[in-house]
Amino acid sequence: LVDLFEEFRARGPLYQGGFSHLAVDHEVIKEVLTSNDFITGFFAPDESGTGLFARAAAWSASDVFAPLQPPSLLATEPPEHTRYRKLVTRVFTVRAVEKLRARTEEIARELLDDLEKEAASGGSVDLVTRYCGLLPITVISEVLGVPVELRERMLELGKGAALSLDIGLEWRTFRDMEASLEEFDHWLRGHLEYLAEHPGDDLLSQLVALRDDGDRLSERELRAVAGLVFAAGFETTVNLIGNGIALLHDNPEQLEKLTAQPDLWSNAADEILRLDPPVLLTGRVARRDSTIAGQEIPRGTIINTVLAAANRDPAVFTDPATFDVTRENARDHLSFSSGRHFCLGAALARMEGEIGLRLLFERFPDLQLLDGRERHPTRILRGYSHLPARLS
Ligand code: HEM
Repeated sequence: LVDLFEEFRARGPLYQGGFSHLAVDHEVIKEVLTSNDFITGFFAPDESGTGLFARAAAWSASDVFAPLQPPSLLATEPPEHTRYRKLVTRVFTVRAVEKLRARTEEIARELLDDLEKEAASGGSVDLVTRYCGLLPITVISEVLGVPVELRERMLELGKGAALSLDIGLEWRTFRDMEASLEEFDHWLRGHLEYLAEHPGDDLLSQLVALRDDGDRLSERELRAVAGLVFAAGFETTVNLIGNGIALLHDNPEQLEKLTAQPDLWSNAADEILRLDPPVLLTGRVARRDSTIAGQEIPRGTIINTVLAAANRDPAVFTDPATFDVTRENARDHLSFSSGRHFCLGAALARMEGEIGLRLLFERFPDLQLLDGRERHPTRILRGYSHLPARLS
């Protein structure tokens, strides 16, 4: 995969393919993502002039929320996006994330206690199913006010929902994804009604309360934002923790640096995001004729922005293929995108990644990954489906 990025990089900052353009250069990708000439509009045929994805999405006629369809934040552009994002940002604050920090540590410690009991028997454990998957689903459940007894079901639904961000799904996987979104949305409608009467401590309750606070989120927007948080905020974070475990295990000298200097953990989370990003690429459509990297881009052109390649751009990162937890500009990666669609959950994801990895390696410093690690067969999301390990 990395060789492929370099092959494209050698051809120039913007490669013109038969079907779409491909950008691998950090500066060019940032320009596309922050430009008003380019929109996420995968499902906005009128504006982009392509209609390509809209036609492919027969199910878009359904009232069930989908992450790449309006009114999802990801599929909305200014002025709607500006108003909508401003409202949501009032709840997703740095303070709210800091409040979740203590709870995240508590959840991680409980999971590690369970792992420790299991490790005592000397067998192997799959860290993806027993740890990486369980921490983010429990944190997202706290954000959305999901009752504890539903969390196991949410874990299943979350995996299905995340697939809505991928491409080229087989028909059966596509149906599973659709069924997960439908079940989640069905549950959500009832849940929102309940929260309106019985608000909790969670962020979703605060979003519901916003409805009566001057500018309102419509019921459909509320469902869309909760659904997007569920689809975009769960599996991506699972992948961050899983990718981090593999990188730290394979580079013990970096782990030693973290043990000697624990305040580097936050930087390490960004370095993991840079080198092995959970979302490989995103894309934009030109809504009017434009110029990028000296090339004329006609309206309707799709540009695939390969975030993973931007993160290895030698013009920005020295020795880009080296994993270095002390890297000074690790945070300059584009793994959370850039511009107006910059990940709403970036602070939450960073915090979960840092805590999840730090507490795991503090508890099991001799953790050994065994043969049999496997990547998901996804195209856009990148992470492990299995990480068998011996913990002590
Ligand atoms: C948007 C990555 C975790 C919620 C995005 C985008 C990326 C991304 C690349 C922008 C896509 C584009 O520009 O086309 C990630 C990664 C994560 C992560 C790598 C974990 C390591 C989360 C979490 C949440 C979340 C925990 C939950 C709060 C969102 C939302 C958007 C978004 C709501 C849409 C923002 C908008 O369009 O204005 N994320 N994400 N993400 N993410 Fe995340």
